[in-house]
Amino acid sequence: MASPNQEAAEAALRAAEARFIANNPLSKAQQDLAVGAFPGGNTRTLLHTSPFPLCMKQGKDAYVWDVDGHKYVDFVGELTAGLLGHSHPTIHRTLLSTLSDTGLSLGATTAHEHTLAALLCARFRLDRVRMTSSGTEANLHALAGARHLTGRRRVVVFSGGYHGAVLSFPGGKPAANTVDARDFVVVPRYNDVSLAREVIKRTEDLAAVLVEPMQGAGGCIVGTREFLHGVRRAAGEKGVVFILDEVMTSRLAPGGLGSQMGLEPDLVTLGKYLGGGLAFGAFGGREEVMRVYDPRVEGALAHSGTFNNNTLVVRAGAAVLRDVYTAEVCVAFNERGEGFRERLRLAAKGSRLSVTGWGSLIGLHFTEDGMQEISCGEDLKGKERLDMRDLFWFEMLEAGFWTTRRGLIAMILGTPDDELDRFVEVVRGFLEKHRHTMMVGQ
Ligand SMILES: Cc1ncc(COP(=O)(O)O)c(C=O)c1O
Repeated sequence: MASPNQEAAEAALRAAEARFIANNPLSKAQQDLAVGAFPGGNTRTLLHTSPFPLCMKQGKDAYVWDVDGHKYVDFVGELTAGLLGHSHPTIHRTLLSTLSDTGLSLGATTAHEHTLAALLCARFRLDRVRMTSSGTEANLHALAGARHLTGRRRVVVFSGGYHGAVLSFPGGKPAANTVDARDFVVVPRYNDVSLAREVIKRTEDLAAVLVEPMQGAGGCIVGTREFLHGVRRAAGEKGVVFILDEVMTSRLAPGGLGSQMGLEPDLVTLGKYLGGGLAFGAFGGREEVMRVYDPRVEGALAHSGTFNNNTLVVRAGAAVLRDVYTAEVCVAFNERGEGFRERLRLAAKGSRLSVTGWGSLIGLHFTEDGMQEISCGEDLKGKERLDMRDLFWFEMLEAGFWTTRRGLIAMILGTPDDELDRFVEVVRGFLEKHRHTMMVGQ
């Protein structure tokens, strides 16, 4: 039977959803059209929301506008790929100059791709790097490289880990669309170092361990130093390739979150904002491992991809690292994120809302007991209040904030301070308005 607070939350949610439907007729009309071409009207599952997704018309700087004319502060930040905002002048200039001075689709190597490769190597301390068109591909090629090098197949990953469209491990097992699903051994709890060491130790035919230093899609749950170093050591002892997935987290410190933690991976995978808003991924690391991709060596692995060295993305990517997201900018931005997250945490004190994350990436969770320490997705099992999470999403939209329904905030460079302040106040007001359901103990 529903408790009084569940009934109240449900009633508030139904009312918020009704207002959403009334306020967004053109988004609804677009969804009605889209279902005629896409299954469910959608070509990216994450962006499907019930009763229908909002359809955006335009983005500028740190804002987006939907087709019904509402303006939002963009806290989705394209799930970290939109770090630079929607119209960064340096990226704009670089793309125009690429079109006029370089051209597209040269079907050859260019000096531009080397410029980006050298910047990536220097920034992320990689001996060698290869580029791809997505983070998913970066992980697939890193895994293929590890398998080729070791002559083994299996890979240890962690429950809640997300490594791409066909590499995800929610709830302790490979998702139905995971490639070579039987080759993955899933450690049932992230951040459990002894369990991880045990699984790595006992797994036969092991080629690699693949882990995020902070589980991003898994809820912005940060790996502890003890855990990450323990996993790294266990991989080393076993003689397998340790792959750190920094597709989401490379933005959190100048050399990526792993460098902040003092980790020395064999391979690192990258993506998202590093393409300046264009399709991008990369993998790189120790020369001994990356050598498996050296086409001068007989028996080397092939690494193909028409768009791996696309002129637009390699020039935009170089501009990101060299001119926009410099080490100094990265540090200052993430300090700003820390401050913002801390203020959100204070605003949420005593409520069912808890705040996780690192620097400019923030996870928001609603749980029955307002748990503050979340070390893995399993901690949330049976405790999450999805009704409250959805109510929050609808009401943040009404206040002019575009956030992900699942509760991830990926801050955008250049979001004005007063918008961050306003968000903290709106969150405080939301919790106060619904205090009978949102405060722990009610
Ligand atoms: C940690 C992590 N790895 C890999 C990926 C896949 O990247 P892409 O969507 O570019 O394929 C993502 C995407 O969200 C990610 O968060």
